[in-house]
Amino acid sequence: MSNVAVIGSQWGDEGKGKIVDVLSREADVVVRFQGGHNAGHTLVIDGVTYKLHLLPSGIVRPGKLSIIGNGVVVDPAALLKEIETVKAQGVDINSDNLLVAENANLILPVHAFLDQEIEKARDSKGKLGTTGRGIGLCYEDKVARRGIRVCDLAHSDHLRARLENLLGHHNILLKGIGADPLSLDKVYDELMKSAEGLLEYVGVAWKRLDEAHKDGKKILFEGAQGHMLDVDHGTYPFVTSSNTVAAQAAAGSGVGSKMVGYVLGITKAYTTRVGTGPFPTEQENEAGQTLGERGHEFGTTTGRKRRCGWFDAVLVRQAVKTGGIDGIALTKLDVLDGFDELKICVGYELEGRRIDYYPASTVAQANVKPVYETISGWQETTMGARSWADLPAAAVKYVRHIEELIEAPVTLLSTSPDRDDTILMQDPFRAL
Ligand code: GDP
Ligand code: IMO
Ligand code: MG
Repeated sequence: MSNVAVIGSQWGDEGKGKIVDVLSREADVVVRFQGGHNAGHTLVIDGVTYKLHLLPSGIVRPGKLSIIGNGVVVDPAALLKEIETVKAQGVDINSDNLLVAENANLILPVHAFLDQEIEKARDSKGKLGTTGRGIGLCYEDKVARRGIRVCDLAHSDHLRARLENLLGHHNILLKGIGADPLSLDKVYDELMKSAEGLLEYVGVAWKRLDEAHKDGKKILFEGAQGHMLDVDHGTYPFVTSSNTVAAQAAAGSGVGSKMVGYVLGITKAYTTRVGTGPFPTEQENEAGQTLGERGHEFGTTTGRKRRCGWFDAVLVRQAVKTGGIDGIALTKLDVLDGFDELKICVGYELEGRRIDYYPASTVAQANVKPVYETISGWQETTMGARSWADLPAAAVKYVRHIEELIEAPVTLLSTSPDRDDTILMQDPFRAL
């Protein structure tokens, strides 16, 4: 028996929310460990849709503890608004089932403002297509050691001194872009107001996790974004500002790395990307349009249309190797129903040479040409399939071939947005 980390293995939106919801039936604690409300995780339970951004996806199951770990950047106003929205859907959220780590960093309105202004000022080639939520700016302040943390809210004099230090930096930036400098009193008052409701959820997350572990409870670590958006392993600089790999689950929640357990990579049966940056298998044609329409590929957080393309086995294999993925949950297989043939990228060509990995250089990433294998599609429907035996032979062949190419087993298959339309081949809590 081990804990499980759920990690995106592509460019995000692989269906992590759905899979965390499925697995949280068995888990006792669900913990987010990086990212912020740039994430958008969708759960569909008995026809009701929940869109979560900061709240761990375990929140909808009664009796589970949800933790927002120290590695998450927390916008207090956004979190409180989300709590209200989800409560209005009938979910019970209180200080018994939600805990926010006292050492998490806070996103302030100035972070979001500067994120958007800096993005506007970038030329078309340099635009990152951020979600504009202030994620990168907050992580910058964290690493520069001028960030404001959740625990600072309880000490007003200390908080004012920390804010003064932070504004000293940001007011220079604001002046540089011709915006008005911020007044300490205003920022302090706004923060206290927006954070008022937060304090009831604040606690010592690492201790609660240690106690849960000692009591033999099962912990599910919920990743946000995906491997190719990881600040080290992704398509830098077109990435998010945190490490999204499973190794971050330990650092971002305050547990030892051995506690992370089985690493489940959530993988879409094709590829999507929202925002700018390289995407070798992108299909700006009818196939891409069909994938987008059938898969309803619009961002959960910003509503932006997601770019779509064929499955890239090279990228996913790299995520398996560099991210320590033990097995994958293959999602949205049903979206491929009805294609005559499907393509899978099995290698790249770069400057006339064949390579079997995705290089780090931005120039090389933009220039690689995918090498495809073509495989037969299927006309039968897999939508809603709940057993392996229900799948057409060609779909089984597609899944088996993916396993071979990425060098990892498919542990779980998802065939619709609904919680129940899931085929479990191996229980990740019992797989190690
Ligand atoms: P996340 O960010 O990884 O949690 O993924 P999102 O929730 O942003 O995007 C995944 C979308 O696909 C959501 O709308 C899900 O409801 C939906 N989804 C998840 N699994 C499946 C599946 O197997 N089939 C289909 N058709 N949709 C799915
Ligand atoms: P989930 O958890 C898909 C992308 C943005 C942009 C880049 C940087 O739902 O899979 P940021 O605001 O983080 O500075 O933006 O990262 N991005 C996501 N793309 N799914 C996400 O989260 C994402 N979170 C950030 O579109 O390209
Ligand atoms: Mg998403």
